[in-house]
Amino acid sequence: MDFIDLKTQYRRIKPSVDARIHKVLDHGAYVMGPEVTELEQVLAKYVGSKHCVSVASGTDALMIALMALDIGPGDEVITAPFTFFASAEVIALVGATPVFVDVDPRTYNLDPAQLEAAITPRTKAVMPVSLYGQCADFDAINAIACRHNLPVVEDAAQSFGATYKGRKSGALSLIGATSFFPSKPLGAYGDGGALFTDDDRLAKLMREIRLHGQDRRYHHPRLGLTGRLDSIQAAVLLAKMEIFDDEVAARIRLGARYSELLRAAFADRPDTIRIPHVEPFNTCVYAQYTIEVEQRDIFETRMKALGVPTAIHYPIALHLQPVFAHLGLHEGRYPVSEAAARRVISLPMHPYLTEEQQAEVVAAVREAVG
Ligand SMILES: Cc1ncc(COP(=O)(O)O)c(C=O)c1O
Repeated sequence: MDFIDLKTQYRRIKPSVDARIHKVLDHGAYVMGPEVTELEQVLAKYVGSKHCVSVASGTDALMIALMALDIGPGDEVITAPFTFFASAEVIALVGATPVFVDVDPRTYNLDPAQLEAAITPRTKAVMPVSLYGQCADFDAINAIACRHNLPVVEDAAQSFGATYKGRKSGALSLIGATSFFPSKPLGAYGDGGALFTDDDRLAKLMREIRLHGQDRRYHHPRLGLTGRLDSIQAAVLLAKMEIFDDEVAARIRLGARYSELLRAAFADRPDTIRIPHVEPFNTCVYAQYTIEVEQRDIFETRMKALGVPTAIHYPIALHLQPVFAHLGLHEGRYPVSEAAARRVISLPMHPYLTEEQQAEVVAAVREAVG
């Protein structure tokens, strides 16, 4: 069994992917070719945002957003401590300081009730993460940020395709930034990412920053990056968008089915594992289907012996990463994130999981919990 099965997906879309890639090979515009423009139009329409700026990775997307907001040394940016490293890495890369706000224990997303207390005169942006495929509570976060005149950037790397109160992830705040890493809900065959905004000025800036900050050829009013998405990745993503609605529906159905099966398997001991909680106003695309168990090491070893792959997203909360030691944020500072980092473990999840595979995973979980 694969943790994420991209081969079955490829068999389904092979004619379209192959034809689109060959078209790029034939026309030869490998960088900023017509596929890139077409993809940006498709994605902007999908997300419901005025602009889409495709970029080279999710990390570049986040970093370009912060650069466009003119964030740098002396500034603070608020994010969650329980997320992939890049969420805080980009804040430090632009020279600013990451400030963490602990997460809600049910959703693992930034807890709006703790946000206001972390805002200081140096705060320049709030960057909540929509972890595991479920959006953070953006109405609550935007309202607090708005009171303090702060821009909000959604780290939507894991939530592309998810909805919050009927609106799509990526279009829930001033800027949305997503990743097209191959294992993401919408994944390329290499690295990629995208930015979304309704703001014309920011969209123009972000387009310039992804191209070395140039506003016209060889004229650079600001610094930027080699931050472009290449045409072959855009071609792959266009093929994948043809089936994306169907895949999102499958993710939602399979995630709900996992929860149902696990609830039934643990009906006699409901406290021994923790099943994902999806807020009633959210749909979750389950970038990861993540549960919590006691004695995770033993559980992990047993699952491996039973032939079921698992992964840990993520074993160390970001304030405890060695590179952030200078922030002086010791163990115990963000207890919810620290507890999650000790207990979470993700099960195989992709739109092509069969009912038999899900039953096999759940039986293994029951056995591994002991
Ligand atoms: C929450 C989060 N933020 C940022 C990123 C960075 O995206 P990328 O790997 O495309 O640079 C990822 C994915 O790896 C992620 O999961």
